[in-house]
Amino acid sequence: MVSIKKYSKKDFEGLRKAGKIAAHILDYITPYVQAGITTQELDQLCDDEIKKCGAVSACLGYNGYPKSTCISLNHVVCHGIPSERKLVKGDILNIDITVIYNGWYGDTSRMYIVEKASPKAIELINVTYNSMMAAIDIVRPGVRLGDIGYTIQSYVEGKKFSVVRDYCGHGTGRIFHDEPAVLHFGRPNTGAELEPGYVFTIEPMINVGGYKTKLMPDGWTAITADHSLSAQFEHTIGVTEEGHEIFTLSPMGLSVPIQ
Ligand code: MF3
Ligand code: CO
Ligand code: CO
Repeated sequence: MVSIKKYSKKDFEGLRKAGKIAAHILDYITPYVQAGITTQELDQLCDDEIKKCGAVSACLGYNGYPKSTCISLNHVVCHGIPSERKLVKGDILNIDITVIYNGWYGDTSRMYIVEKASPKAIELINVTYNSMMAAIDIVRPGVRLGDIGYTIQSYVEGKKFSVVRDYCGHGTGRIFHDEPAVLHFGRPNTGAELEPGYVFTIEPMINVGGYKTKLMPDGWTAITADHSLSAQFEHTIGVTEEGHEIFTLSPMGLSVPIQ
């Protein structure tokens, strides 16, 4: 029996604050994403700013995770561990921030480009962003989880990219990863019906090549099995009577890198 929590209007106020801080961190780090900086320097800058905002990283220490952010470069699908790797021109990367503020979680990620990416990489990033937004657009009471997955999968496969199956979105709120699992592929008119008060992430991971992933020996870093490029975006959203609210919108309007 899947039990999905319903959060109140008052709870949404807490989620709004946590989501805004997480999105602010992604805005804050944007000018630092340049050739020559290491991903652990980016991680440290994010962690300092998270603390300045009165929040803490939900990732640090989560199931033994060693850093405050996830930074996933090029063929890394998700959960890349910040390291001494320096960014170089042409890299594409996802930075994923989850904060806890007053007990509320805000979970969001975006793509960044180091100077200039290939046309294929730019297309991948745009398709990934559009797939997330198309799915968010349909969210309202009565829509089913399978409709979300189908919206993403049909759009992405129409563009000849593939949807990662091994990782999914998730309920969140006062718990990092909660019910329901929000798959980014699926069939219309299947799965749980959305109700006002549900809070979850939509965070599609999209590959240029096949959908299969491989876990690295560090136990966290997931890469594409065929080493093709991968992209991801993530928002935390709440279902309202009228539709939905995105808690993690960029305060500076920096939702997707433009080139
Ligand atoms: N933020 C990731 C998500 O979107 C989870 C990261 S867990 C960590 O669900 F431990 F790797 F940080
Ligand atoms: Co998430
Ligand atoms: Co995340």
